[in-house]
Amino acid sequence: MNYENCDFVIFGAKGDLSQRKLIPALYKLDKKKILHKETKIIGVGRAEWSQEKFSKIIKQSLKKFLKENIKKTIWKIFKKRLSFCNLDVNDTKNFLKLKKKLNNNKIIINYFAIPSDSYTKICRGLFKFSLNLKNSRIVLEKPIGNSLKTSRKINKKIGKYFKESQIFRIDHYLGKDTIINLLYFRFANSIFYKYWNNKGIDHVQITIAENIGIEGRSKYFDNTGQMKDMVQNHMLQILSIITMNEPKKIDSNSIRQEKIKILKSLKYIKENEINKKTSIGQYSNGKINNIKVKSYKKEIVDKPNSNTETFVAIRADINNKTWNGVPFYLRTGKRLPKKCSKIVIVFKNTTAKIFKNLSKSMNNKLIIYLEPNEGICLKFINKVPDLNKKCILKKLKMNFTYSENFEKKTIPDPYEKLLLECIIGDQSLFVHIDEVEQSWKWIDNITKIWKKNSKISELYESGTWGPSKSKKIIERDGRKWI
Ligand code: BG6
Repeated sequence: MNYENCDFVIFGAKGDLSQRKLIPALYKLDKKKILHKETKIIGVGRAEWSQEKFSKIIKQSLKKFLKENIKKTIWKIFKKRLSFCNLDVNDTKNFLKLKKKLNNNKIIINYFAIPSDSYTKICRGLFKFSLNLKNSRIVLEKPIGNSLKTSRKINKKIGKYFKESQIFRIDHYLGKDTIINLLYFRFANSIFYKYWNNKGIDHVQITIAENIGIEGRSKYFDNTGQMKDMVQNHMLQILSIITMNEPKKIDSNSIRQEKIKILKSLKYIKENEINKKTSIGQYSNGKINNIKVKSYKKEIVDKPNSNTETFVAIRADINNKTWNGVPFYLRTGKRLPKKCSKIVIVFKNTTAKIFKNLSKSMNNKLIIYLEPNEGICLKFINKVPDLNKKCILKKLKMNFTYSENFEKKTIPDPYEKLLLECIIGDQSLFVHIDEVEQSWKWIDNITKIWKKNSKISELYESGTWGPSKSKKIIERDGRKWI
């Protein structure tokens, strides 16, 4: 397939996201011959870098983050695409320098790999030199703002310069193949499609656990916290994909409309429910894989008294016909024992009268492993073979792993996938403005209650599964984290 010719402009080319994710993803697209031969990559930043210096820096980051050897032949092609534009986004006049570097007939993909408080300035600069026309797209990183109010303000200002169809709000979880597969898995398999509702499902657990800490991102993380860094976006996106009704078509409008309906149906947690339904915490000293790690307070450079949360668990409920009565338990945290993202769908017990006394622990479970070791596992009940009609039942597993069924290299990196979707111009895997705002509404309601109650946060030892209260949230309902 021939993909279109574009100018990739990366605002914040020097930053962590660009070096760690964007540049390696673009290189891999080039290796797969997806970038058009005329496509250019223009780094933008305040550094006074020459072309040569920029190429050198890009090569260094590829060496560090590519996770494979740089191929000489590919590098030769990739290097030719690179150029750097020294530009201070605070000075609108400066954007003329960028305009001179661009070819206005091509698609222009402006990637904002910088904090969201600079988004408006960039849009204004692009607008001033007519770089916001139909052929121009902007890609915005999350979180957009840090509350509904700030997010609305940013979205409104951006909306003055760019139409919704030009705005690609990125959430890299939507680029993970295991997440994209949810739509196909749910609706293409009749055995699951039929029971994917409150008649078939008892509850759902979503876990995104990381064993890393804040990895030198103290300033960003301390102002954001786990709720706004992970729940407002990744977790609510996963939740809406698991629960949305069947879209009319597989296209961006239909899919996003269904997700918005779910986010609008999320029940608001009341002040008197906050202790029952939410748990937050911050990691203290501990050990991960037997190696001692520092507490969050020691990792944060200038704010040793910071109260920012590094762990969140929430029971969410959806107020609609399909999901009334089904709790969704979400948990995510840093410095947990291991890196693991998974969705567990726990089905209801059988309605067969002959097995009405089966214990709850025997429920069928479907575990979708998002990362690492991508795969799906179905837990079912089987009789243990015997001669004497003892009829002992046992839980067994049917396992499917990506690594056994597909070649590892066929699983695209999420940024590779999403950058390609930007080139194609398909917004299905990007977040609509209404999704962002609905998510903020639900999150703001909780964070406001937390703020009033400073004692709500607990410390948890690094290398454990989070604060003790996070277990109570689910155990109170007679269930357990899986
Ligand atoms: C990012 C968060 O969006 O997702 C990080 O800002 C987090 O704090 C990361 O570590 C996790 O992504 P993944 O793909 O490694 O699970």
